[in-house]
Amino acid sequence: MSAPLHIAVLPGDGIGNDVTYEALKVLGAVSDVSGRALAFDHLPWGADHFLRTGITVPSDGYTVLAEHDAILAGAFGDPRVPDNRHARDILLGTRVSLDLYVNHRPIRLIDDRLCPLKNRSTLQVNFVVFRENTEGLYAGIGGRFKAGTNDEIAIQEEINTYKGVHRIVRHAFAHAASAGLTRVCMADKSNAMIDGHALWQRVFREVAADYPAIEARHLYIDALAFFLVQDPSAFQVIVTNNLFGDIITDLGAALQGGLGVAASANLHPGRTSMFEPVHGSAPPLAGKNTANPIGAILSAAMMLSALGRHEEAALIEQAVHAAVINGQTTADIGGTLGTRETGDYVAATIRKARAPEA
Ligand code: NAD
Ligand code: IPM
Ligand code: MN
Repeated sequence: MSAPLHIAVLPGDGIGNDVTYEALKVLGAVSDVSGRALAFDHLPWGADHFLRTGITVPSDGYTVLAEHDAILAGAFGDPRVPDNRHARDILLGTRVSLDLYVNHRPIRLIDDRLCPLKNRSTLQVNFVVFRENTEGLYAGIGGRFKAGTNDEIAIQEEINTYKGVHRIVRHAFAHAASAGLTRVCMADKSNAMIDGHALWQRVFREVAADYPAIEARHLYIDALAFFLVQDPSAFQVIVTNNLFGDIITDLGAALQGGLGVAASANLHPGRTSMFEPVHGSAPPLAGKNTANPIGAILSAAMMLSALGRHEEAALIEQAVHAAVINGQTTADIGGTLGTRETGDYVAATIRKARAPEA
């Protein structure tokens, strides 16, 4: 075995635990067959930990995360923490503290039958969303005055910086260029948000000028929602702000079969990054062996890919494709298996793919 990569594991709340367990099972299988070691440090942060200790993230928490090669996260959110404070500190806090400015969310239909749109094939749903991940309406700047009274004033500011907008737009074009793609769409709401989103307009034109071979299209976010349902094949790369990216990637998750299969990476290229499924903690499904682990498993594949282990990432992707095509999945995408059995199938497929010939 080679020197291990050190992965911080944050399963979190609800089905975050169920699906992360399966992602680790699959990573174990891939590590066994490749002979390349992975070492996991489990961190208990989540609602239970917060309710027990009053701590969301320990004082050295972000530093501890940054000392790892990568972070694998599950999901955060629990009805016992109605203000979602722990999730904001753990998830949004990590995105900001580690400056993970790229939220990379691929939307890829694995099997025609999973698309909720009529007569669509896998060739027609295959694009990637780059969501700005450190500013926008998520900056946490605002406050409430006379809270709880009928005179309450609630303010939530949207932050758009030249640096922040520029680096995510540039990342989108650079990705398109390196992947041989020819279309980038930027979505904003510059017809209504005339200051903040004028900055997006300016930066988009500026960066697009450096990529003359790439078609740079602008859509207002409401029109993007419309076109994504009407004709997803029109899109290859989408770049947008934090909130719009959050919303549009749940729509994208639906196009590829549901939240159970959607994967994501929170990246700062070259630095410790975090990988997590797009879905939340789905409290009603927690612990019931029902949640689909594929989004978490594909997020683990994105992690290996970002760490340069492309072959191992491809092994996971191929095994997931086999599970989906053969119907060896959970019920949300038409199978009859439980969470654990789906993970078992994917892990066994990886081991079989690499078993020595008899
Ligand atoms: P959710 O993603 O948890 O659930 C939305 C719907 O999708 C539900 O019907 C759920 O059953 C289904 N679903 C989600 N994941 C699934 C899976 N793996 N397999 C099968 N079905 C799945 O979103 P929500 O209900 O809006 O939020 C629940 C909690 O999760 C809230 O506290 C919310 O803040 C939190 N949340 C966290 C994250 C995250 O940690 N990244 C993301 C979204 C929501
Ligand atoms: C996501 C989630 C988070 C977000 C929530 C839990 C704060 O919806 O990762 O998509 O809005 O970013
Ligand atoms: Mn979301």
